[in-house]
Amino acid sequence: MKNILVIGGAGYIGSHQVFLLCEQGCNVVVFDNLVTGFEESIDSRAKFVLGDLSDYDSINLCLKENKIDAIIHFAAFSQVGESVIKPLKYYQNNVIGMINLLQAMNENDIEKIIFSSSAAVYGNHEKMPIDETFQTIPTSPYGETKLMMEKIIDSVAKVTKIKYVSLRYFNVAGALLDGSIGESHNPETHLIPLVLQAASKNEEICIFGNDFETIDGTCIRDYIHVLDLCNAHIAALKYLEIEENESEIFNLGYGHGFSVLEIIDHCEKVVGHNIKRKVVNRRAGDPAVLVASNNKVLNTLDWVPEYDNIETIIESAYCWQQNFPNGFGRG
Ligand code: UFG
Repeated sequence: MKNILVIGGAGYIGSHQVFLLCEQGCNVVVFDNLVTGFEESIDSRAKFVLGDLSDYDSINLCLKENKIDAIIHFAAFSQVGESVIKPLKYYQNNVIGMINLLQAMNENDIEKIIFSSSAAVYGNHEKMPIDETFQTIPTSPYGETKLMMEKIIDSVAKVTKIKYVSLRYFNVAGALLDGSIGESHNPETHLIPLVLQAASKNEEICIFGNDFETIDGTCIRDYIHVLDLCNAHIAALKYLEIEENESEIFNLGYGHGFSVLEIIDHCEKVVGHNIKRKVVNRRAGDPAVLVASNNKVLNTLDWVPEYDNIETIIESAYCWQQNFPNGFGRG
């Protein structure tokens, strides 16, 4: 597939996806409202369309005016904590956006979509690793919206020519290896960028609880390099090119995790000095352990992870942070 529309292509993951698609010689159109994304993160080889999925006409026009073979849909609000406080913001943006997109796809005979879902659809489980057959019981409005979006695509796919791959991300981290693009959230809530920021500013990183039932009492997560994650989307596009392949849902993670303390230790190795830390209360809703079973994706897609090394992940995030200490858009 040559002509790819990346919705949310100015965001953290989207901008890495756009870079990789451009490297592969695809014609890339980015559709983004720049509410959380940054125009400067978009590869200059891509065409940029400023638009919002909440406006049906703008996505419909974008699909009419550009030749599109497939869509990768990243655009969504994604902060778990905020979604608890402002649920309507999440349902309105994420779910309505998905409905408008699918309607516009139908109107313009576009049949292939890769959807960025989340491990948040699973909720809390005792048994690890989590595979795709586990019950989906989200614990936040954010997770609910991702699950609804998955279900809406599936319902539409049953009665139209649309085929999809939904990818349930575990903890996405890292940056392009030269640090030219990376993670820029406002506010930042993710562990690795926060630890590296604390290191640079000689501030304390807060550890959200050390009384979980894990090796060292801190939460364990499955951190996947953003480039491996984006390469899996390219593998998913290739999967959908094969006529007989069915729509599918896959976890994206490495199948092993690191505790918060282990992440801080690895960050210390990368930055070359001690990082101050203090233990504070647990963050509401944090499960003790979240690790993916990735057997299904490894057995189905033509995808081989290349950056399954926590120090490579942290080094790339650090390189980005050294280049852009204030992130994008803030000087
Ligand atoms: N943490 C800290 N201190 C911090 C920030 C995070 O101790 O300052 C801990 C958290 O408690 C958690 C771990 O570091 O145990 C990772 O936290 P992140 O916020 O980086 O990531 P989450 O696991 O909370 O969230 C990720 C994705 C979400 C997705 C969720 C699925 O970022 O989009 O997994 O449950 F919804």
